[in-house]
Amino acid sequence: MLDGLLVDLVPWGARFQKLEHKWDNGPAQFWASAGDRSIVTRAALERWQQEHRERMENRPRHGVRFGIQTKDGLPIGSISARAVPHHRLAMLGAAIGEPDYWGGGYGTDALLLVLDYVFDWLDLHKVWLGTMSINARVLRQMEKVGFTLEARSRQHWFADGAWADDMVFGLLRDEWPGRAATIERLGLRVR
Ligand SMILES: CC(C)(COP(=O)(O)OP(=O)(O)OC[C@H]1O[C@@H](n2cnc3c(N)ncnc32)[C@H](O)[C@@H]1OP(=O)(O)O)[C@@H](O)C(=O)NCCC(=O)NCCS
Repeated sequence: MLDGLLVDLVPWGARFQKLEHKWDNGPAQFWASAGDRSIVTRAALERWQQEHRERMENRPRHGVRFGIQTKDGLPIGSISARAVPHHRLAMLGAAIGEPDYWGGGYGTDALLLVLDYVFDWLDLHKVWLGTMSINARVLRQMEKVGFTLEARSRQHWFADGAWADDMVFGLLRDEWPGRAATIERLGLRVR
């Protein structure tokens, strides 16, 4: 378990999987999938999960997916790092499935834990992520945490009837001052 100020990161397991259908059909999915509002049936999700398990069975695992839970143990979402070991590079992805917890610092708390994990434990060189230009929470998160905007791909996503750019952010290990220093700089506290 990775112990944060507002959340803990724990192995992704049955407690979280049970909520996946709700989260995949809720408001987080629009943002996490860059504009997709399609409905996923429970049967389709279970089929996809089964296919995924079979596909991955004999393949090396280079990714890590954590469940995000509040300090009192409530599952609220997930955060993952998909690594390409040869390049010591990982793509990050996060979604808090419970919108009541958006904008309250929970996602940034989870992100800081993952950054220490990928740089200090996995010894990666770089992390990156892409997001829609209309995703204000992620843009603010990137600014707060110190990612660099590396690329902007124009009119890349079609979301709710309008084009949005894709914003690609990166953070190098050398640029990461560490979780403790970032908590200090941002003045984050247990609430
Ligand atoms: C992305 C996500 C994980 C971030 O977690 P979070 O807990 O919401 O993020 P935080 O609260 O730590 O940081 C968000 C920042 O955006 C700010 N913010 C919230 N709503 C905003 C808005 N409409 N406009 C501008 N800023 C906004 C928050 O105030 C906060 O900044 P602050 O710390 O200066 O106050 C979460 O919002 C989420 O799961 N969203 C839906 C799925 C998603 O977008 N996934 C990422 C796809 S790339």
